[in-house]
Amino acid sequence: MRAGVRPDAGTQDGGASRPAVLLDCDPGHDDALAILLAGATTELVGITAVSGNAPLERTLHNALIVTQIAGLDVPVVAGADRPLVAEPRHAAFIHGESGLDGPELPPLTREPAGGSAVRFLLEAASARDDLWLVATGPLTNVALALREDPSLAGRLRGISLMGGSYGPGNVTAAAEYNIFADPEAAAIVFDSGARLVMAGLDLTHRFRIDAERQAALRALPGAAARFAAELMTAYGDAYARSFGPDVGVPLHDPCAVLAVTHPELFEVELRHVAVELTGTHTRGMTVVDRRPGERGAEPNVEVLTDLDHATAFATLAAALAGYA
Ligand code: RIB
Ligand code: CA
Repeated sequence: MRAGVRPDAGTQDGGASRPAVLLDCDPGHDDALAILLAGATTELVGITAVSGNAPLERTLHNALIVTQIAGLDVPVVAGADRPLVAEPRHAAFIHGESGLDGPELPPLTREPAGGSAVRFLLEAASARDDLWLVATGPLTNVALALREDPSLAGRLRGISLMGGSYGPGNVTAAAEYNIFADPEAAAIVFDSGARLVMAGLDLTHRFRIDAERQAALRALPGAAARFAAELMTAYGDAYARSFGPDVGVPLHDPCAVLAVTHPELFEVELRHVAVELTGTHTRGMTVVDRRPGERGAEPNVEVLTDLDHATAFATLAAALAGYA
């Protein structure tokens, strides 16, 4: 057991059952792996798409095509096509205009479920008391649902999100993409009173997929693993083009799933986190209060600080191979 680990995060009975998860995402290469991981390790009740890495029509398409390739019969629902206040800002330099550049995608045969992501999210959370919401894109859908029904915060088992940082950002010196893309939405979520687990850049950059791990994915059986390997090759090339060959390729979004399914892999600090909305240089920053002991403000977030990345990768690889 690693120091400061949360043994109970996602599972009811210490690990045997699959936690119930609704995944809100903006696929996106690493979101696609989060979908495949969640599909194999959780009771995945549904997927909601949000504008982020690519426009909504692309992230919705991409969420559908990933579930189609994996044979996951999971409802996929369209969410917000723009942030609450900020202007839309996509990440084509990493994910391409399609949001999933790299692999040749088959013709889409799946249809999105009707209705809105907010309605789907609120109904899913009212139908049970053990639902985790995993969010791996801008928090627009989550904020809209909380604004429509604030009691959602107390009904969810928790919100495990990939976003923010207590160190450098990746869009600006201070801000990480998912938070920067919709800071007003993030502020609503961080102020909501829900149980929050934050996988920020400080953590996700410790879970990298290097050439050896890319080769390991390529050696896995089955179409889903082959698709994931092709995605990671394209994702790695885009990272190298944008950040240089030796930055390494962080697997951001799968961390938010693993934090629920395998909490024992993580170290955590209970911290107060607020989202900066007005700073000239700091808008979209997650201000994490890491002052020692009692001097810090009342914690509202479980901030993940480290993980057993070898076991995390082995868990991801086993999940992908399991689709074969
Ligand atoms: O900053 C990394 C995050 O932004 C990841 O969720 C990635 O998919 C992009 O959405
Ligand atoms: Ca994402």
